[in-house]
Amino acid sequence: MHVKSFQNPLLLGFFLHGLQPCLAQIVPPERCATGVHAILIRGQGPGDHLNVMVSVQNLILQLIPGSSSVDLPYKHGVDDHRIAAADGASLMQEYIRYYAASCPNSKIFVHGYSLGGVVMMDGLCGTSSQWLFPVSALEPRYNRTVIAAVSYGEETFVPGVPYSVGTCTDGTGTSGWYFRLVSGIYPRIHPEWCDAYAASLRSYCDEDDATCCFRIPPPDNLAHFLYIFRYNMDVLHFVQQRLNATRSQ
Ligand SMILES: *[C@@H]1O[C@H](CO)[C@@H](O)[C@H](O)[C@H]1NC(C)=O
Ligand SMILES: *[C@@H]1O[C@H](CO)[C@@H](O)[C@H](O)[C@H]1NC(C)=O
Repeated sequence: MHVKSFQNPLLLGFFLHGLQPCLAQIVPPERCATGVHAILIRGQGPGDHLNVMVSVQNLILQLIPGSSSVDLPYKHGVDDHRIAAADGASLMQEYIRYYAASCPNSKIFVHGYSLGGVVMMDGLCGTSSQWLFPVSALEPRYNRTVIAAVSYGEETFVPGVPYSVGTCTDGTGTSGWYFRLVSGIYPRIHPEWCDAYAASLRSYCDEDDATCCFRIPPPDNLAHFLYIFRYNMDVLHFVQQRLNATRSQ
């Protein structure tokens, strides 16, 4: 397999995963979630697939009855952001498609942190950042299945779109030209490609996070590590609200 195939996201997916279906997502009917099925996507780095997302998993499993959860075993350990992001986005799409096919009445919550947030966003909306390998959007019909989609501190963040939350703003109203150059390090050029999933989306980004709220001079990045402490309960309530709102659909 030579480098050329990386230009094709489909081939990239097959290259990295082989042609096997994701057995982890083929679920017998009696194990389909009656609460929510959470797909949790950690940030870049070596080690286990769940990492700090275990905190979100515990909340969901303990406080939303009938829920289930999986981590997304993408290539989070590789150094190249582009390979990790494209690999994760394609794998997340497979997880959603296979899970929805085996559990058509279950609702899905996807949650990514940092590079895992890029995986989540690109997997739903399609890639629209320079430097990242292209992945096409998930079919819009899955917007009835994916009822909540959350990211923490992700690199494609742009402030001021309907689904952006947190304290990172575009700096308008603040003096100094450099304050206006605020976004993630791979800003999303077409935030509107996320429109099919708009009701489900929340992208959290705080001031002092150099990953999603980059500005010059660069912030100290402390905020990048605080999301799970600041927002996990907020996210839990959001998922509960979305479950309530979509239950009759
Ligand atoms: C799904 O997306 C379509 C547009 O692609 C939109 O018309 C529809 O309202 C969305 N449904 C939900 C449940 O968000
Ligand atoms: C969801 O609905 C349940 C049952 O009606 C209710 O107890 C709960 O407060 C609702 N939660 C939210 C966050 O709307």
